[in-house]
Amino acid sequence: MRFDANTRLAGVIGNPVRHSLSPIMYNTVFSALGLNCVYMAFEVEKENLEDAIRGIRGLGFMGINVTIPHKTGVIPFLDELSAEAEIIGAVNTIVNKNGKLIGYNTDSYGYEMALQEKVGISLKNRNVFVIGAGGAAHAIAGQSILSGASAVVITNRTFEKAKSLMDFLNGTFCRHHQNSGSDCDAKTRLETVPWGTDAWRNILHDMDIIVNTTSIGMNGRGDLAQDIPWNNIKKDAVFFDVVYTPIETSFLKEAIRLGHRAVSGLYMLIYQGAKAFELWTGKKPPIELMEKTLVAHFSEKGGKDA
Ligand code: ATR
Repeated sequence: MRFDANTRLAGVIGNPVRHSLSPIMYNTVFSALGLNCVYMAFEVEKENLEDAIRGIRGLGFMGINVTIPHKTGVIPFLDELSAEAEIIGAVNTIVNKNGKLIGYNTDSYGYEMALQEKVGISLKNRNVFVIGAGGAAHAIAGQSILSGASAVVITNRTFEKAKSLMDFLNGTFCRHHQNSGSDCDAKTRLETVPWGTDAWRNILHDMDIIVNTTSIGMNGRGDLAQDIPWNNIKKDAVFFDVVYTPIETSFLKEAIRLGHRAVSGLYMLIYQGAKAFELWTGKKPPIELMEKTLVAHFSEKGGKDA
């Protein structure tokens, strides 16, 4: 693709951002679809965040992705938030709609679609166990509630943060329900449990979807599989890991070995990107090409970096 005076711009802001796979993923798809668009990575310091966001509007970017550590920091600089971004309290995609900047959270969509497409299950009436309480946990827990999970149980090494996430979600859901004219009666049971095998043993037997949102297992560091009480888990429980380096963590490997279905964070990455792509261009990207591009990148790098 030759860039010219009509090339439309997109990108990702974050810090650090030089490891991001998004430029490879999006530029491959732009090129395959013959779209005159380009996607770049911008390392943005916190004190420059407002200027960076103004630049999106000023330079007429079609939109950007936002990654760590700016997913919450960008919110005050936007004109509007989608319902899921408001409930989750984080934005990973901004759309520039004729100068109006709208914040979305497509991580949550990526999680839901990955479950649907890879193992054919929906979140409705499921019991979801969320390991971790950081940014990714906000999207996973928030989307589970939005899509009608029966229960969301949160566990975190720092227990206070699990409690804060629960309180935060209770609060935003209440506001959302009140704004849409209904009472605050979210149907999902929200709970926290302490960290560790003993506490998990009492609850995991009842869980349908077990999600690691922490960085344990990333690049082979740490092994969550050792802490899971495997003999207390439903046969048809599904395991999901937001980590995608390696594509199959030891947590997922052990789940598969024991006969469970498992979904890699790679698919959450792909589907969150697919949604952002569609929001910017109005077109659905080829999922297989996105997967092929990322897998090829990992095999080139020996699966070491993300
Ligand atoms: P992200 O936005 O990717 O979710 P984050 O907001 O920094 O990143 O959250 C990281 C999560 O991984 C937290 O839940 C963190 O637990 P703490 O709140 O106790 O810090 C969890 N985490 C990271 N390394 C961990 C480890 N070695 N053991 C247990 N939890 C870990």
